[in-house]
Amino acid sequence: MQAWLCENPVGVDALTWKELPTPEPQAGQVRIAIKAASLNFPDLLIVQNKYQMKPPLPFVPGSEYAGVVEAVGEGVTHLKVGQNVACLSGTGGFGTHTLAPAALCFPLPDGFGHVDAAAFIMIYATSYHALIDRAALKAGETVLILGAAGGVGTAAIQIAKAAGARVIAAASTEEKCALCKAEGAAEVINYSVHTPTGGLRDEIKRQTGGKGPDVIYDPVGGDFAEPAFRSIAWRGRYLVVGFASGPIPSLPLNLALLKGASIVGVFWGDYARREPKANAADMATLAQWYATGKVKPVIDRTLPMSELKTAYAVMGSRSVKGKLVLVN
Ligand SMILES: NC(=O)c1ccc[n+]([C@@H]2O[C@H](COP(=O)([O-])OP(=O)(O)OC[C@H]3O[C@@H](n4cnc5c(N)ncnc54)[C@H](OP(=O)(O)O)[C@@H]3O)[C@@H](O)[C@H]2O)c1
Repeated sequence: MQAWLCENPVGVDALTWKELPTPEPQAGQVRIAIKAASLNFPDLLIVQNKYQMKPPLPFVPGSEYAGVVEAVGEGVTHLKVGQNVACLSGTGGFGTHTLAPAALCFPLPDGFGHVDAAAFIMIYATSYHALIDRAALKAGETVLILGAAGGVGTAAIQIAKAAGARVIAAASTEEKCALCKAEGAAEVINYSVHTPTGGLRDEIKRQTGGKGPDVIYDPVGGDFAEPAFRSIAWRGRYLVVGFASGPIPSLPLNLALLKGASIVGVFWGDYARREPKANAADMATLAQWYATGKVKPVIDRTLPMSELKTAYAVMGSRSVKGKLVLVN
C-alpha cells in the first residue's frame, strides 16, 4: 500500500508519499481499499500539530474516506469483504489502504457513490445535530447560515430546507452566494459587501422584515459573531459551530438577556461518542434523505490522491465551494 505519511507535524510540506507494508486487521478492525477521501478542517490542523487530537508519529492523515472492505478482523460481524463503506476515523484516509475500527464504518446502501460518501458524515451529521437537535429548528422559521458555501454550510442549507425553514445564506463572494442560491437559499448576503462593521446588521434586518433570524448557524466566528448575534430574533438560538476565520469571539451576555436568546454549543464529535444511538438515528435519517435526493454533497472538485498538497493549498485559499475530494 501507499500513503501520505506525517513523520514530523510541521505542516503540509513535510508530508511524504511512501510505500508501506499492507497491514492485516486486528480484532474489531477492517482493512479498506480507499476509493475517495475528503478534506475537512481538522486535516489542516492535524499535520501542523494544532489539532486537539495528536496521533502518535508517524501517522497517515485523512479523517474521512470511503472504499471497499478488503479484509475483516476477528469479531467483526456487521461488515464483510467486498462491502462499500464510509468511515470517519480521524486518520488514515490519505492513502490507498487503511485499517479502520469496524464500529466506525457505515455500510453504504446501493447507489451511494464513494465520492459523495467520503464527503458526507462530518458535514451532514454536524449540521443535522446542530439545526435539528440543538436548535430544534421548526418549519417556517428563518435560519441565517454564515460561511454557507463551505462544507458544513452547504450541508446546513440543504438540511434547513428539508426541515421547511427559510434560509438566508451568507458568504464572502458573489460566486459563493450564487452556489448557495442554487442549493436552495431563499436570500443571500455577500458579507464582503455588507461587512461586519458596514451594513451586515442592516441587511439581516432588511431580509427578515426587522424580526431577525430565529436560528443563526455560525462556523466562522471572528468579527461576524457579534453583529450576527445582535440581529437575532426574540427566542433565537445562536449555534456556535466553529471558528474558521481564526479568532474566537466574545459576546456581551446582556444581548442574550435582551433577546431571550440562547447561545448553543455544537460539538458533533463528542455527541457521537456520548450519544451513539441518537447519532446513529440521525445518520439513518440522513441516508434516507440522500436516497430521496433531499441532501447531496456539493463537490467542488475531485483530485487524484497524489495531489494532496494541491488540495491543501486550495482549501487554505478559502476558495473551496462545498467539499474537495481525493480519489484513487
Ligand atoms: N462543532 C463541530 O462539531 C464541527 C464539526 C465540523 C466542522 N466544524 C468547524 O466548522 C468550521 C467550518 O468547517 P468546514 O468543514 O465547513 O470548512 P470549510 O469548508 O473550509 O468552510 C469554512 C468557511 O468559512 C469561511 N471563512 C471565513 N473566514 C475564513 C478564513 N479565514 N479561512 C477559511 N475559511 C474562512 C469560508 O466562507 P467565506 O469565504 O464565504 O467566508 C469557508 O467557506 C471549522 O472551523 C470546523 O472546525 C465544527
